[in-house]
Amino acid sequence: MKVLALINQKGGSGKTTVALHIATAAWQAGLNTLLIDLDPQTSAAEWHDSRAEEFPAVLSIQPTRLQKALQTAAESDTHLVVLDTAPHAESTALDAARAAQLVLIPCRPAIMDLRAVGKTIDLLKLAGANAYAVLNAVPPKGSVVTEAAEAIENLGLPVCPVRVGQRVAYSHSLIDGRTAQEMEPEGKAAEEVQQLYKWTCAQLGMPASTQEHKRHGKQVSKRTA
Ligand SMILES: Nc1ncnc2c1ncn2[C@@H]1O[C@H](COP(=O)(O)OP(=O)(O)O)[C@@H](O)[C@H]1O
Ligand SMILES: [Mg+2]
Repeated sequence: MKVLALINQKGGSGKTTVALHIATAAWQAGLNTLLIDLDPQTSAAEWHDSRAEEFPAVLSIQPTRLQKALQTAAESDTHLVVLDTAPHAESTALDAARAAQLVLIPCRPAIMDLRAVGKTIDLLKLAGANAYAVLNAVPPKGSVVTEAAEAIENLGLPVCPVRVGQRVAYSHSLIDGRTAQEMEPEGKAAEEVQQLYKWTCAQLGMPASTQEHKRHGKQVSKRTA
């Protein structure tokens, strides 16, 4: 079982958006996938409530229950756990980072976000995390994304080569519990999500589809605590 955590001490950077899209991509590829929502705002769990489809499973828990939830997930043949975390919650971020083999830090290429990301980077260094920034909500034109990537790398954090664009599909699809790749399977967002998912699997040293995974024919069930 692999664990991926989405962390950024700044709210609105795209943690939940990226978590939902990667978890759904993994489920679509046939992996037993569990998204654990550690944010008391429960945005991921509410997305799941409004979703017609049962999977990917979303479990909303208090951060103190994380170890137990991961243990249960491992015993249920889960392939991938995605941890969505809250902003302004250092101890949860540290626990999530320590439990994960890969941490992604969604960051908007905007000055306020770039100024704030140093705090999260310091925190993740403390946890000894294997972390990458993911530039999110990137505008279609301009050099802002290259400058942002340079600024983040200068702070000592590598940047994921896949960029997530500013696209209506990412927000609009969430209204009825879907994702961009489900709303517009042929769209640009769907293509980006697939690239990000594959890159993530490669970083985790994990096969991207069940063809390579041993099939257990069992999915974790929907539980909300
Ligand atoms: N790539 C994107 N394109 C368009 N809207 C986005 C994108 N990423 C995030 N958003 C929107 O920005 C807001 C904050 O994103 P969210 O994922 O909830 O951030 P966080 O979980 O870090 O607080 C949401 O309304 C979301 O729909
Ligand atoms: Mg969130």
